[in-house]
Amino acid sequence: MNPLDKIQAPVAAELDAFRSMFEKVMSHENPILNEALVHMRQRLGKMMRPILVILSARMVGRCTQEVLHAAVALEMLHTASLVHDDVVDESDRRRGQASVNARFGNKAAVLVGDYVLSMALEHAALTQSTQVVGLVAQLGQTLADGELLQLYNTQSDIIDEKSYYSVIRKKTASLFAACSQIGAILAGGSDDDVEHLRQVGQITGICFQLRDDIFDYDDKHDVGKPAGNDMKEGKLTLPAIHAVLRGGDPEMKNLALKIRRQQASPSDIQRMVDYTRQQNGIAYAEWAMQEFQYMAAGLVPEDGDPAIREALHAYIDYVAGRIV
Ligand code: IPE
Ligand code: IPE
Ligand code: MG
Ligand code: MG
Repeated sequence: MNPLDKIQAPVAAELDAFRSMFEKVMSHENPILNEALVHMRQRLGKMMRPILVILSARMVGRCTQEVLHAAVALEMLHTASLVHDDVVDESDRRRGQASVNARFGNKAAVLVGDYVLSMALEHAALTQSTQVVGLVAQLGQTLADGELLQLYNTQSDIIDEKSYYSVIRKKTASLFAACSQIGAILAGGSDDDVEHLRQVGQITGICFQLRDDIFDYDDKHDVGKPAGNDMKEGKLTLPAIHAVLRGGDPEMKNLALKIRRQQASPSDIQRMVDYTRQQNGIAYAEWAMQEFQYMAAGLVPEDGDPAIREALHAYIDYVAGRIV
């Protein structure tokens, strides 16, 4: 059984409604735009964000039409950020197929990303909640801020965990936090429940990016996008950061900075990957991820529908244990 099935089963009807709403808006009369939207629509992602919106809403109340609009808004904002991210990262593969930039070129990808982002805002407005519109707008800013912070980190000589976590909180965890927070707000959750669920999303999001960064060292599983890309992009993630800090070898730190500046050769990168393994960098990142996993699980509210609560726990476990 697909581990996602266990999570999705108690909200299957809501997810169907989400999917049909999402797919319906991913089309356009302009044939060029339509072709790009159809390309994107034909390979949906894991839909982790809408699932979280719906589960959080159901934790505290009902999944209304407004909740579904929020789920569409947040999945669209995510999709737009991936389209732009693949331009920034010069990545040619996404969700097991050509990225939008690889298929239609950078210029079209930037514009299609803008279009999808604006659709996200329209769906935020359809929730009829100015609070939610404000949160979605702030989220867009936080995501861009995180991506820029990451970009400028490649020019920094400081290698520490703090700046790594600061980037992943902004570029990834903020989106998960917004999903659980907005789902709970729209379903009429108490301030206390909304805040707890927001934190569950935030911490699960940190877990999600840690898992993703660990994947980059994995050449056995195909996750639908290139592996081993982070260092090529000048990105040092927690496993390598830990190796450099733990090893304390000035030569390896210099090599790490060379990788950041994208001046490293493939054999330099291989050397850093080997060093990361040797210093237990991957095991360390897995340990850190599990700490966040337990922290998130501990914050799940204890009342409400047990089937939904169980699905939320399964969601957190899936994020940490996923192999795609
Ligand atoms: C990819 O997110 C971006 C990261 C935060 C690493 P997902 O892995 O959730 O992408 P899809 O939506 O399932 O394709
Ligand atoms: C994805 O980031 C985009 C955001 C999280 C905003 P990455 O560049 O780290 O992820 P992938 O590997 O392309 O999915
Ligand atoms: Mg990126
Ligand atoms: Mg990328």
